[in-house]
Amino acid sequence: MQIIKLSATDSTNNYLKQLLPETVLEDFSVVLTHHQTHGRGQRGSEWISDKGKNLTFSILKHKPPFPTNRQFLLSILVSLSIIKTLEHYNVPNLAIKWPNDILSDHHKIAGILIENLIKSQQIESSVIGIGLNVNQEIFNGLPKVSSLKNILGMPIDKDELLHKLIVNIQYYFSVYEKNGEGILDTEYESYLFRKDKPSTFKLPDQTSFTGIIRGVTDSGKLQVQMEDSTKAFDLKALKLLY
Ligand code: BTN
Repeated sequence: MQIIKLSATDSTNNYLKQLLPETVLEDFSVVLTHHQTHGRGQRGSEWISDKGKNLTFSILKHKPPFPTNRQFLLSILVSLSIIKTLEHYNVPNLAIKWPNDILSDHHKIAGILIENLIKSQQIESSVIGIGLNVNQEIFNGLPKVSSLKNILGMPIDKDELLHKLIVNIQYYFSVYEKNGEGILDTEYESYLFRKDKPSTFKLPDQTSFTGIIRGVTDSGKLQVQMEDSTKAFDLKALKLLY
């Protein structure tokens, strides 16, 4: 396994994307940094992580086997790989908050940012960025964020954890190759946070409404049942309040 370890970089996703056109990189190459100065999150947010305490890394997947209209399978596959890894450490009450936040006991412990390079209607390569809170203890102003150390009450070896994560990502790609997408879709929905429970959502115009999460469409939209109909929302169109 090719691992590029950097003492600091702005964003491991940026670093890997810049490297991609100029270097021959093995499948599942990893770029890892101890200090990410401008980590990026979903919806243009920032990913902030204390220096040296957590895992902030990106993995390269050449030509992921999914059609472009099922790019969301990457989110599913990576979310399940993180869950499977954390289950090994007995992390309690794991859930996936759509689209791909990993929660334990309602606290976010990991986030995923996937960036795909599409060429001629095919996914040419995927840069899978993962931020996992491992040994950081204090999250100022973020009451719904936690780390493995806070949850498990002991520090975790980051190298071992990284290794298990990569092995599990490779495992889930093999599950897809052997069994297709159905099994991944079903497993993802079994971990979907607040599925089949009434929840409150906020729209971009700041109004809120109550609905019930029923699942996720093939393209990754969240299906929410409202009073008279079920609607599918994309990431920018909806925020789950919890
Ligand atoms: C989110 O939950 O908003 C996604 C967070 C993704 C953070 C990771 S850290 C490594 C990689 N590099 C980045 O700039 N972002 C991802």
